Amino acid sequence: MVKICCIGAGYVGGPTMAVIALKCPSIEVAVVDISVSRIAAWNSDQLPIYEPGLEGVVKQCRGTNLFFSTDVEKHVSEADIVFVSVNTPTKTQGLGAGKAADLTYWESAARVIADVSKSDKIVVEKSTVPVKTAEAIEKILTHNSKGIKFQILSNPEFLAEGTAIQDLFNPDRVLIGGRETPGGQKAIKALKDVYAHWVPEDRILTTNLWSAELSKLAANAFLAQRISSVNAMSALCEATGANVTQVAYAVGTDSRIGPKFLNASVGFGGSCFQKDILNLVYICECNGLPEVAEYWKQVIKINDYQKSRFVNRVVASMFNTVARKKIAILGFAFKKDTGDTRETPAIDVCKGLLGDKARLSIYDPQVTEDQIQRDLTMNKFDWDHPPHLQPMSPSTVKQVAVVWDAYEATKDAHGLCILTEWDEFKNLDYKRIYDSMQKPAFVFDGRNVVDADKLREMGFIVYSIGKPLDPWLKDMPAVA
Ligand code: NAI
Repeated sequence: MVKICCIGAGYVGGPTMAVIALKCPSIEVAVVDISVSRIAAWNSDQLPIYEPGLEGVVKQCRGTNLFFSTDVEKHVSEADIVFVSVNTPTKTQGLGAGKAADLTYWESAARVIADVSKSDKIVVEKSTVPVKTAEAIEKILTHNSKGIKFQILSNPEFLAEGTAIQDLFNPDRVLIGGRETPGGQKAIKALKDVYAHWVPEDRILTTNLWSAELSKLAANAFLAQRISSVNAMSALCEATGANVTQVAYAVGTDSRIGPKFLNASVGFGGSCFQKDILNLVYICECNGLPEVAEYWKQVIKINDYQKSRFVNRVVASMFNTVARKKIAILGFAFKKDTGDTRETPAIDVCKGLLGDKARLSIYDPQVTEDQIQRDLTMNKFDWDHPPHLQPMSPSTVKQVAVVWDAYEATKDAHGLCILTEWDEFKNLDYKRIYDSMQKPAFVFDGRNVVDADKLREMGFIVYSIGKPLDPWLKDMPAVA
């Protein structure tokens, strides 16, 4: 029986391994992590991450051919294939701080593999890593190998949170990069055989190691670039009276462009886009390509601009001050159908409003109060370290209340900001909300989920990203 071990039981390691176990009953899969609480949660009824469909998959295989454990050494030493799916955060200190990937966790995983292995192994990079990481990992493994042979493969993950299980069941492609040697090709074939249990062969792409590593960074950069492009257009739409939804539709019906990822919003978030683009920028700079680095940097600059533009709209519309006013925040996760708040635009928007002394009442169907307080007090990039290495006992922000109901959040509020596109926000009783709010009552829709015309009829003053402005907003000072 083939044995797989995956180091890192996070958003990627957990779902990917659960799906491999489900689709390959003949393979035994162990997912290991240094976080005791995370492993305990994977073994309980309350999984550590919220992902539609995940619970059903885990329940079908857990205890049969899917195991979650903190015994990293045992499972690594027994495995034929070791996936490494640990976090690769942005460095916060030293050379490349604020841009380069911090490979501390990756390196320590590689050292464990080298230390405990007693048989030849295929080591698979599942984490998103800088191009050429495999070379460094190879050096760590071979220098400590005691004659054991390791083949390194790059197999970046393209799942999207919120649709991870669907994406894993039916991937656009699986990418496997390896050495162009007989040993490398044999390893590629072994991993291909795993995916071939359910992925059609023509969707399993094989490349050299560096192409696979770089393709993941490139794919995330292209995706984020589309969002920044449509968000840049949204600012121009507001200035000219064009409607960004109409513009995006007209642009996206061109088959060369396509309709996906063209929704204007308050900005992109998530653990990957910013981190991976910063990493790409750093690699370009290190390779003497400052113009290329500058080009990709703009994608992040526009994203930051979009978030501060939103905050400025809120403040400017409400008589240039939100001091002591209650603002309801609907949605804190970086997108719908996940509880993940890593790099969510809600953090920057909330911090911006708090900077102007607003009182916030936050509701998100999947995010806990503890997480929100952590996010609002944590330093940039600290979130991407295992919880036990994050700053202890974060202080709470007193002007922030976290509530478990949209109506509670909006009661007596002067304004409400929609920051995540949860389906339930489309169907709220906005008349009831209007009646319970201070007047004039403002809605700032950062995800274009509400029917602005209907809300205006009720009496709301509505701002929707990239849409023709409410007469009220037109008279307010220009947004920087
Ligand atoms: P995560 O933070 O949810 O999970 C990483 C896990 O690795 C943590 O539970 C941590 O405790 C564990 N870990 C760290 N060092 C360890 C070690 N030495 N031994 C054992 N366990 C260790 O991170 P996530 O989101 O799963 O991301 C992992 C990688 O996958 C990152 O490189 C990310 O860029 C990439 N990725 C993430 C996607 C996403 O949607 N979250 C999608 C595609 C790729």
